Amino acid sequence: MAFFQKKPTQAEVQVDFSHLPRHIAIIMDGNGRWAKKRGLPRTAGHAAGAETFRTIATYCKEIGLDYLTVYAFSTENWKRPEEEVSAIMGLLKKYLLEAIGQMERDRVKMEFFGDLSPLTPELRQLCERTREISRHYEGCQVNICLNYGGRDELLRAARAYAQDCLEGKADANHLSSDQFSSYLFSKGVPDPDLVIRPSGELRLSNFLLWQSAYAEFYFTDVLWPDFSKEELHRAIAAYQSRNRRFGGI
Ligand code: IPE
Ligand code: IPE
Ligand code: MG
Repeated sequence: MAFFQKKPTQAEVQVDFSHLPRHIAIIMDGNGRWAKKRGLPRTAGHAAGAETFRTIATYCKEIGLDYLTVYAFSTENWKRPEEEVSAIMGLLKKYLLEAIGQMERDRVKMEFFGDLSPLTPELRQLCERTREISRHYEGCQVNICLNYGGRDELLRAARAYAQDCLEGKADANHLSSDQFSSYLFSKGVPDPDLVIRPSGELRLSNFLLWQSAYAEFYFTDVLWPDFSKEELHRAIAAYQSRNRRFGGI
């Protein structure tokens, strides 16, 4: 792995839980390779990945993280074979039904970033119900990026802003960063402090292009279904060892 000389052992990982990043974003990658390594169909990897998501989201709530954003399905993932896409959508439905059943217990606020319109009406309704039931929950907010693409998000924002200018609701000569952010799916959510990508890939793959301008990155070879609380600790400890300058000195 290019980014670490040596992976710290669990005993060496020191997390300061009183100074957690406010917002962690994760590209949940590596499900297919996880399955392949075990001689299983790729869908088994997605099922295992969904369980990892459940564990990590619950843990983030437990440790008092404010925001967790996960990349679940990109605008480019429709290119995959139809059986794989429908298996992912089926798992999503199963996950949401279970999440709705346990909402009162878990009390995690759930949001969705992305254009949900190409999803089946049933899935759209489940997303809407999840969002609605958890709307008033306080504590951790989990944002699931579904049919999400950073470029798609920016194009939508540009179009909506242009429309507001045409209707006289916005002034074309005055557009601030904050104002532009309010046209994004992530409206009202602070930018991610830490972006984690498992599976060894060193790219953003169209994730949170605008929002990750000053994010710290953590890459690991661990495949998403094998991602654990310990790996999250390593990522947070790495984040806490960084010196964020935001262009200053
Ligand atoms: C991430 O795992 C899940 C989705 C993109 C839906 P992948 O399915 O991309 O797994 P790999 O990268 O092929 O191993
Ligand atoms: C990014 O992973 C999208 C999600 C994890 C949902 P991909 O597997 O689609 O990314 P690439 O194709 O390797 O860039
Ligand atoms: Mg992948």
